[in-house]
Amino acid sequence: MPHHVLVTMRTPDCALEVLRRAGVAVDASDRTEPMPRAELLRRVAVCDGLACMLADRIDPELLESAPRLKAIANFAVGIDNIDLAAATARGIPVTNTPGVLTEATAELAWALILAAARRVVEGDRLVRRGAFTGWAPTLLRGLHLGGATLGIIGAGRIGTATGLRAGAFGMRVVYFNRRRSEPLDERGAHRVELDELLPAADVVSIHLPLTDETRHLIGARELALMKPTAILVNTGRGAIIDEAALVEALRAGRIAGAGLDVYEHEPALTPGLTELENVVLLPHLGSATVATRDRMATMAAESLVAILDGRRPENLVNPDVLD
Ligand code: DGY
Repeated sequence: MPHHVLVTMRTPDCALEVLRRAGVAVDASDRTEPMPRAELLRRVAVCDGLACMLADRIDPELLESAPRLKAIANFAVGIDNIDLAAATARGIPVTNTPGVLTEATAELAWALILAAARRVVEGDRLVRRGAFTGWAPTLLRGLHLGGATLGIIGAGRIGTATGLRAGAFGMRVVYFNRRRSEPLDERGAHRVELDELLPAADVVSIHLPLTDETRHLIGARELALMKPTAILVNTGRGAIIDEAALVEALRAGRIAGAGLDVYEHEPALTPGLTELENVVLLPHLGSATVATRDRMATMAAESLVAILDGRRPENLVNPDVLD
């Protein structure tokens, strides 16, 4: 009997091709929004493999509804939607998609840095509403990046890639991370404590995974440590920032601006956020390039096929289950 795999959202075709070529029976959603919970629990019940998205909560209830489940591939590098301990306790290997989205996400961090620093979206709105009356010396002046300091919070793959791009803008880099980032050190960056980074940086960019330790790492106290001229960018996970405190800080002008790709209660937004002019808001596009999403899709599908064939995929996040 072929293995059955559930794919919970529309994915690039290459994922389905990998699965079908391997002789897997595929049950794939064609929707571009998350599968309703009751439907997910019903459809996963007969599956051997699951390709899930970051909006799918993989918890004990789901695992209990899926007695045949032998493999979970998360279509993301972040795995905060998965109760890893519960999957591991059931001996189910879990994979993610590291590496392939590093550059795309670093590029998007820079899109937000530039947009927020140079008030690109405010300018676009001004032109569209017919308020452009000609060049003016004081119109929408932003933050000068040349010679400014970029503070990277979380210098793993993506944080490091973001920091390495700062040289192109003549920026100095400081970073906060448990371990040293050799590539950043080689370019003259300095590893510092968080409370040292926040007052020193003109741009603060967050690249951490969401864990109990990082939830609300940036709250009212940390925002108050930042320069009033600084901007905060988040392409990691929304809940690393206390979003209500951020709305308050932006409203009061305690920091100059922000660029967000991720949200604390995604896809819901904290009240007040959309009313602020000084924040650029994107719909979680960090990895959204055609090439990157194809690579993520292929990687997730190949991981499932490997596990279901009894092979060990490279990107296991709970390697102990296959030891
Ligand atoms: C991830 O992979 O964790 C991103 O947030 C989605 O691409």
